[in-house]
Amino acid sequence: MRITSLLLCVLLAILSIEAVDRGKYKTCSQSSFCTRNRGVTHDGYHIANLHRKSDSQFTADFVSPYLQGRSLTFELTGLLDNTVRVRVVESLPKRYQGPLEVLEPLQEAKLSEKQKSSESTEFTLNSHVTVRIDFYYDGRHTLSANANDFLNFEHLRSKEEDDKIVPSQIPNDEATQPEDYNEAESGPWQRPTKENPKKSGRWEEHFGGHQDTKPNGPTSISMDITFIGSRYVYGIPEHASSLALTPTIRVGDANEREQVTDPYRHYNLDVFEYELNNPMALYGAVPFMIGHGAHGSSAVFWLNSAETWIDVETTTKDASGREKVGTQWISESGNMDIFFIIGPSGHDVLRQYAALTGTTALPPQFTLGYHQCKWNYKDETDVANVDSGFDSHDIPYDVIWLDIEHTDSKKYFTWDQNYFPTPKNMQEKIGDKGRRMVTIVDPHIKREGGYHVHSQAESNNYYVKNKDKNDYDGHCWPGSSSWVDYLKENARDWWEQLFSYYNYQGSTPRLYTWNDMNEPSVFNGPETTMNKDALHLDGVVEHRDVHNLYGMTMVNATARGLIRRHADQNERPFVLSRAFFAGIQKHGAIWTGDNTAGWDHLAVAQPMLLSLGLAGVAFSGADVGGFFGNPDAELVTRWYQAAAFQPFFRGHAHLDSKRREPWLFGEPYTSVIRDAIKSRYQHLPLWYTLFYKNTLTGLPPMRPLFLEFPSEEKIWNNQDQFLVGRELMVVPVTRSQQTTSRVVFPGAQKWYDITDGSSHAGGTEEEVNVPLEKYLVYQQGGTVVPKRERARRTSQHMDTDPFTLQIAVSREGTAEGELYVDDGHTFDFKKGVYSYNQIKLENGNLTYKTLGGVYESQLLIEKIVVYGLSSAPSSVTTVSNEKLDFSYRNGKLVIRKPNLPATREWSLQIKA
Ligand code: GLC
Repeated sequence: MRITSLLLCVLLAILSIEAVDRGKYKTCSQSSFCTRNRGVTHDGYHIANLHRKSDSQFTADFVSPYLQGRSLTFELTGLLDNTVRVRVVESLPKRYQGPLEVLEPLQEAKLSEKQKSSESTEFTLNSHVTVRIDFYYDGRHTLSANANDFLNFEHLRSKEEDDKIVPSQIPNDEATQPEDYNEAESGPWQRPTKENPKKSGRWEEHFGGHQDTKPNGPTSISMDITFIGSRYVYGIPEHASSLALTPTIRVGDANEREQVTDPYRHYNLDVFEYELNNPMALYGAVPFMIGHGAHGSSAVFWLNSAETWIDVETTTKDASGREKVGTQWISESGNMDIFFIIGPSGHDVLRQYAALTGTTALPPQFTLGYHQCKWNYKDETDVANVDSGFDSHDIPYDVIWLDIEHTDSKKYFTWDQNYFPTPKNMQEKIGDKGRRMVTIVDPHIKREGGYHVHSQAESNNYYVKNKDKNDYDGHCWPGSSSWVDYLKENARDWWEQLFSYYNYQGSTPRLYTWNDMNEPSVFNGPETTMNKDALHLDGVVEHRDVHNLYGMTMVNATARGLIRRHADQNERPFVLSRAFFAGIQKHGAIWTGDNTAGWDHLAVAQPMLLSLGLAGVAFSGADVGGFFGNPDAELVTRWYQAAAFQPFFRGHAHLDSKRREPWLFGEPYTSVIRDAIKSRYQHLPLWYTLFYKNTLTGLPPMRPLFLEFPSEEKIWNNQDQFLVGRELMVVPVTRSQQTTSRVVFPGAQKWYDITDGSSHAGGTEEEVNVPLEKYLVYQQGGTVVPKRERARRTSQHMDTDPFTLQIAVSREGTAEGELYVDDGHTFDFKKGVYSYNQIKLENGNLTYKTLGGVYESQLLIEKIVVYGLSSAPSSVTTVSNEKLDFSYRNGKLVIRKPNLPATREWSLQIKA
């Protein structure tokens, strides 16, 4: 190859991993409903005939000149635990009434108009002119709805009626196509109307050569919500952006608004080579936002599965000098269904949100270990070699993954006979070593005669339909494909049964599932996804209404399928998904899709995963090393060090990327990676306990600092550090050649470096050395970290190992923590077969008390380490006065072999 063409290739390769093709994805100005609503006031929506229907509910008629004489139903419902639901409902069959299936059973609670009671959530409703609702906690104003009059509800109408509402006369100077109009980007130019001078788009819309027919016309809804007392807002994943959301609207001194960027977009999309720090849509959507400021936190859940745009204003002050952040929420269709979550603390809003969409399904223990993936492990020998590579290099791992090439021509539930002739045997060999496998199963089904999945789906009418009510046909990995309509109950049931050992030939109980491309990704569709006028439920529901829900319906059915394949249905499933919606945490884990092998992508994984955790999606991870491209040894090593402390821990790479199993980087890198992975395995008891605690509290294991230190202003937007529980603080290295890190030590307690026991005072900031082999993880004084110190080949091999309790005492000499234990893989914990224990150190008494469950086991505590005692104890004794051996050096007490039970109560005396 000539040097010039080589250079060109290199250049192209660099270019190809750097830029998203923005022209393929809509901006707000290319979306007619976004343009119709963004920053547009519609005064005159008000309510009439307000009456109290019950202690917890007020109802009214929702009226406006915009509604052309129609009246919609307005409902205000108090829910248990400081939450108020506001709905504006148009109950017509053509209007999508969901996605109500994502909600947990809700419990109503007393709701009071302000000043009438001080014991319940309060609100004021200004119903005389334009409706506005203000919410209070303990008399303090926390949230406002429609303070800016951005409320809009486009009721269903006929085209004729709409023509009357929107005059067709247009200003002369805009009647012809503007010279700068880019047809390739925006589709054929349309005659503008008064309301939207660029193009109409009310009854059809064009983009990228695709036509969106809109048989129902304009159906959008919009509302502004102000977070009073908040400096920052967080959440609304998934965006590759900062933790504290960067404003999209600048508000000036005279309240003038200037659009800085597009609003944050929620529209599940397969964005090839996504860019960082912009509000473009990505693979998943959780329309849940938290605000935080001096008085605590409040939150909003906007329950809508259609395309949604969310503006965030710069922080301003209200009349009384309190900070506030304005937001605007715009969805293309559906009813208005908003949950106002009053807090008052961050912990409160996460619990309150969990009551709406559920907590994280307790993951099987092995899924918290390390996962090794590559597109693609070629054949059974490749799998065996990678598997044994981990053993020969003494690196633990739990799961090996097979990407799309393992199938026969991208037909899921099949195996390529040439490369994977004995899949059961392969899984059994992996299984014998205590490991598992995952295969990929995507939602696009190859339209090929004789492929059983296709023929069954086609003949039983299980596919999503196109606007003409024929099976929707598009392109994805297998070529011409159709998509299963998981909204249909019978299609779901059928899908679930495809995972039976009989139907999924070659599968075994050791096999789990990866659902990818479920936004859904359609290579030849508008914005690489499904046409909005495609139809679900036999033509009843437009894809437009449920687009963001689609992927999750697949994951739900897949998880059910994995449960159902066992005769006793008692094994926990594991599904990894790329697309998601609110509530995904009940069904599976997610990862952040196709990131890139670059330092910026390593850094952005933190805010992305933190935002997910805040929105209930606690089990999430980013591809270690970066999917596209080839990380150098330093980057990949630093990535392992960071990801070992993030919830879902998987290495993965593109088909064209070089192999990068941990031992391929040579020394010192392989040893450093080994240490990072081993440290993950040592901390599995903490991870498992934190996931159990999530089921009680909704708190994510991986947390932003502000959640635990809510009054420390300077860390409210810190995304360079994060917490694992409240126990550990992690400070990943995210820059090349970085030799020191500036670390903020929040709170009042000391922080103990888990690698060397050295301590740093809370309330300080320090520059700390970070040579390659060093990862910065600190344990907070006052906490207990349960560990298993021998990192073995797999998590399963550690199942019967004894625990170590690593205690860091507080300034007051106390500590508190928990250890959760169960069988690690069945649903028996739901019947009380588990042991949830509290460890407490107080006045020299160390007690181990069972908070819940009964679990018979021989599991032991083999070691107790206590950091931060000011002097050596005189003795350590059990209740029966038995003296235990201990050593004390440099503030570190080690009680060796106390051999106390891990699933029964005990106590010790540590005498000064
Ligand atoms: C998508 C996934 C990626 C996977 C590839 C092939 O790009 O995001 O993880 O390897 O498809 O299945």
